[in-house]
Amino acid sequence: MSNVRSKIMGVGYYVPPRVVTNDDLVKLYGIDTSDEWIQQRTGIQQRHYVDPGVTNADLAVEASKKALDAAGVKKEEIDFILYATLSPDHEFPGTSCFFQAKFGIPGVPAMDIRNQCTGFLYLLSMANALVRTGQYKRILVIGSEVHSRGLDLSTQGRDVAVLFGDAAGAAVVGPCAPGDQSEILSVHLHADGEHAKDLWLEAPGCAFHPFRLPKDALETRSIYPQMNGKTVFLNAVRRMPEVVLEALKHHNLKMSEVDLVVPHQANLRINEAVAKFLSVPEEKFFNTIQRFGNTTAATIPIGLSEAAAQGKLKKGMLVAMPAFGSGFTWGAALVRW
Ligand code: ACO
Repeated sequence: MSNVRSKIMGVGYYVPPRVVTNDDLVKLYGIDTSDEWIQQRTGIQQRHYVDPGVTNADLAVEASKKALDAAGVKKEEIDFILYATLSPDHEFPGTSCFFQAKFGIPGVPAMDIRNQCTGFLYLLSMANALVRTGQYKRILVIGSEVHSRGLDLSTQGRDVAVLFGDAAGAAVVGPCAPGDQSEILSVHLHADGEHAKDLWLEAPGCAFHPFRLPKDALETRSIYPQMNGKTVFLNAVRRMPEVVLEALKHHNLKMSEVDLVVPHQANLRINEAVAKFLSVPEEKFFNTIQRFGNTTAATIPIGLSEAAAQGKLKKGMLVAMPAFGSGFTWGAALVRW
């Protein structure tokens, strides 16, 4: 390992222009729900959905342009693409390859991971390690989701459908210049596959015999995401504070030294419980779920971009980024911005 340190050089995000409010879910899709129910349980007011013809990779292209601008990096300088999504354009190859062709950086290695809401943190951990080896210098880390085409947008699927939105977020990770205090301090990751079926999409999959898309996939609803909401809630409010404290302990830091928490956006109620457990005041806990819903792998780069744009994220700040999601997977990054 070289003595290179690594940092987030710039972030950006993109949401498709079509806004779908809670009332729209009732009016346009006929879902038996209400703005009051959704806001009370989740804090979500609206989300964005793609229009016909727009793909996951298209969203990532727009987000990546913004991240490169913010980093002051040219696309020709990118030497690795790391891509997190649970809503890929196609089963294979990975969406990173479709993205690479659309973005126009041929030859650059491109890799997908499937770590759902913790996807961005899993990639940040990899990017941090790869830059620190000295082998890569400008890694594009992307979280991109098109949820709207995979949800059961009917009353039967309402517990899950109201939560999610479409978006992409991106970050450029590269080495710190000498004297630069900005740094990815560490990323702490966990998983517990015992809970894999508490939040999952069963089909299509090669666990089915004799064919990966069972004939009754629509009737059994195995083609739609299923969630044990209460189990997700209980585990998220326990695991996110736990892993933030683990990250702080690793550096002998205290919660009071953290300037800003930019967490995954699963549910405003989850984040309020996490903030309360960690005794973090509201102004230091940055939420965006009200406007975008849960955008899975994109939530953290969206939060970082918005916090920076609103002047709440400034150079030199100590930032904690916890996430929890399907798998279950969870983690936290600690960054000196
Ligand atoms: N609109 C109206 N009513 C609804 C809706 C809806 N969208 N969804 C469920 N209901 C109904 C149910 O049918 C049920 O009705 P019943 O009492 O007649 O049977 C009632 O509301 C209560 O249902 P519960 O599932 O008990 O509702 P709960 O209060 O637990 O809230 C929720 C559900 C919001 C999903 C909650 O469990 C939760 O927040 N879980 C965490 C899951 C989460 O945030 N996941 C995000 C993705 S995962 C991630 O990113 C970590």
